[in-house]
Amino acid sequence: MKERISALLKRTPSTEIVTAEGWVRTKRDSKNVCFLEVNDGSCLKGLQIVIDKDKLGNSDTLASITTGCSVICKGPIVESAGGDQAVEMAASDITLVGECPVDTYPLQKKRHTIEYLREISHLRARTNMFGAVARVRNTLSFAVHQFFQERGFAYVNTPIISASDAEGAGEQFLVTTLDLNNVPRTEEGKIDFSKDFFGREAFLTVSGQLEGETYAMALKNIYTFGPTFRAENSNTKRHLAEFWMVEPEMAFCELDGNMEVAEAFLKYLFRTVLEKCPEDMAFFSKFVEAGMEQTLRQIVESPFAHMTYTEAVKELEKHNSSFEFPVAWGSDLQSEHEKFLTEVVCKRPVIVTDYPKEIKAFYMRLNADEKTVRGMDVLVPRLGEIIGGSERESNLDVLTQRMLQLKLDPQAYWWYLDLRRYGSVPHAGFGLGFERAVQYITGMGNIRDVIPYPRAPKLADF
Ligand code: 4AD
Ligand code: MG
Repeated sequence: MKERISALLKRTPSTEIVTAEGWVRTKRDSKNVCFLEVNDGSCLKGLQIVIDKDKLGNSDTLASITTGCSVICKGPIVESAGGDQAVEMAASDITLVGECPVDTYPLQKKRHTIEYLREISHLRARTNMFGAVARVRNTLSFAVHQFFQERGFAYVNTPIISASDAEGAGEQFLVTTLDLNNVPRTEEGKIDFSKDFFGREAFLTVSGQLEGETYAMALKNIYTFGPTFRAENSNTKRHLAEFWMVEPEMAFCELDGNMEVAEAFLKYLFRTVLEKCPEDMAFFSKFVEAGMEQTLRQIVESPFAHMTYTEAVKELEKHNSSFEFPVAWGSDLQSEHEKFLTEVVCKRPVIVTDYPKEIKAFYMRLNADEKTVRGMDVLVPRLGEIIGGSERESNLDVLTQRMLQLKLDPQAYWWYLDLRRYGSVPHAGFGLGFERAVQYITGMGNIRDVIPYPRAPKLADF
């Protein structure tokens, strides 16, 4: 395989002729010399190609090279005379592979707004910022697998099309083959899903947790990492209709063990990015979120804060006058409250536990007070909730009661209840919103800018 630009930049100068393939980022011309910055997305800053116009035969080619063109350059890597880079290529040959008409190319030299770039998602990875996001996201994906594989967790692929609502919140997208112009109806006038491809109602999954639990009851420690879908009003800077979730599930594990893994996992991700993406992280620290690298370094060095929901509410109530939504025991925490807890009260990530059962999902283990459940949310400054998880209810009767209270049909979840019938064991797990992690680490303001093709209300063409 030919060397990528990132590898060429690390070479020591020699007379060996090497090849650089990529897209022209900038072109600077003077009478005798032409400078191109060529990048292939393997790093933030590309390779400077210096062309001595007198020596290069094909000067027509050079004239048609503009920003965005794809090129193949050959020449030795030499010490750079300029101060910006250690080495550059003294090109002896250039091939223009694909032209890029200047007048219509949507990426002009000037700095574009992030909103404009969102409208050209198919081209935005060619900018410094979106290239850096893509590399950090890639590094994080690999680190997710590495963290769990190093600890003996098995990667389980849970279904995307599912009959059950894992969160019981009714935020599912319906998947159907029924003809919308001629919807079959039952005698009672309801939509007849028995005529559907699946012979019943089917949905896009909101979480792989329940199916993940079935495998944890066999393999002990598992994780899923896949797309999940929520038909909730996602018109915020931290919600998507389609997002990726990492969901570990551990048998013979209670809430404390769950919190330990969640903290170790986040720190592992932060450390990996600092170590593997220093150039991109320096870019984010400089242009996107001031000092983000330093912030991550501090987080990795110190323990997360811990508080119960009840303690959190006591703290928040003191400042109710400053909130848009004042808090009282029982209310769900809004993002303004999560920000306050992390940025003002704790000044670091905090794990909040033991929420009122009314505001959490049916599967969370009921505490002895019968009012709260063993749920945990990991909140981070600036963003709020990044992880949601819990110890699961492992008692068949209690779980069945909880489902009935929440008007869920236990029969529809018979297979899930089987896990409590046959060899039930305390178990726990959590879900990390993968885009929230990328958003936090890069400091990007809007979650739509950390996934290649964001899905939110009003779908774009791509
Ligand atoms: O808190 P949530 O809803 O928890 C679950 O789905 C559990 N089944 C997880 C588990 O215990 N296995 O979602 C988990 C995380 C949230 O903390 C958040 O980071 C992210 O998923 N998330 C979203 N990210 C982007 N857009 C959305 N609409 C999201 N909804 C949740
Ligand atoms: Mg949650």
